Amino acid sequence: SSSRLVLGIETSCDDTGAAVLDDSGVILGEALHSQKEVHLRTGGIIPTVAQQLHRDHIERVVQEALLRSGVSPAQLSAVATTVKPGLALSLGIGLEFSQKFVRQHNLPFIPIHHMEAHALTVRMLEPIAFPFLVLLVSGGHSLLAVARGVDDFLLLGQTMDEAPGDTLDKVARRLSLIKHPQCSTLSGGQAIELLAKDGDRLRFSFTTPLRHIRDCCFSFAGLRTQITKEIMKKEAEEGIQEGTLLTCASDIAAAVQHTVAAHLAKRTHRAILFCKENSLLPPSSPTLVLSGGVASNQYIRKALSMITDLTGLQLLCPPAKLCTDNGVMIAWNGVERLREGKGILPPDADVCYQPK
Ligand code: KG4
Ligand code: ZN
Repeated sequence: SSSRLVLGIETSCDDTGAAVLDDSGVILGEALHSQKEVHLRTGGIIPTVAQQLHRDHIERVVQEALLRSGVSPAQLSAVATTVKPGLALSLGIGLEFSQKFVRQHNLPFIPIHHMEAHALTVRMLEPIAFPFLVLLVSGGHSLLAVARGVDDFLLLGQTMDEAPGDTLDKVARRLSLIKHPQCSTLSGGQAIELLAKDGDRLRFSFTTPLRHIRDCCFSFAGLRTQITKEIMKKEAEEGIQEGTLLTCASDIAAAVQHTVAAHLAKRTHRAILFCKENSLLPPSSPTLVLSGGVASNQYIRKALSMITDLTGLQLLCPPAKLCTDNGVMIAWNGVERLREGKGILPPDADVCYQPK
């Protein structure tokens, strides 16, 4: 066929992902190797471990994606690979592999910005026109931006310290939720969402971060300190050691989830008002796209839908599988760039990864 085919490769964090897409966004083949289980055991990502796992799996993951697609390297129009931002050691493996691959097969190379790829994934499924507002919330990111074009983003705010998923993971760990029979295989965020369903959020009250700061930035480190202090107080009251499940764990989970949701919703509300004041979004059917691992939280989605209802925006969330890191979103960004002829490099171009 005359369709242009793009191989996308993602290694910026703890997922080794590859996918082959045609230029209308049909996924012809994909493969993903997640390191999450390994990192769950060590209580966080150790960069050298992540690097070694990417090294161990990248060849196979790319071969699997190609094999499943039935596409040979010679049939590809380009290779798109995440080069920023992310963990330096992880990015390096994907870039090194990709550069070897494009040189070997004489293919154009498209360097991809991981956040921009997250932001545009929704367009693979629905014809959302630019500009639109995006909220990205995951274990590694927290940002609000206006997507104005394939390579044109206006950053309205980002986290000043840690990302919400990271906070939820650390709180879940501090609460030893992994010892809860229903939570042993869940991510921290999923464990908190599950426990929160049976919790009474009003039994605890945490201060929403940056309440008096009039911008669209996020902060979660101070909130985590508040939460940790409360957990220590409860452990003392219940006379238990750190590492034992508190009887009030679900109430704490509910309050934590509520405060994170409130913070995200309030900052997003500010961003929407700012966009309206400055005519940054189209007057007819303005859209908020919510993506990232934390976006699969139903309570957080509900909080954001209240804000979009209030301000007359439509809220779009890509399916969970596309909200998290994968090769598909990188290949899609490659397709969008190829269509517009933006950021396409010859096979022998010198490209560096950029952690920040
Ligand atoms: O996008 P993702 O898979 O990886 C990156 O961080 O890039 O997001 C994973 C993060 C983890 O911190 C996880 O705890 C959080 O998303 N997460 C959730 C939920 N599912 C995953 N947080 C809140 N509620 C959930 N249901
Ligand atoms: Zn990501």
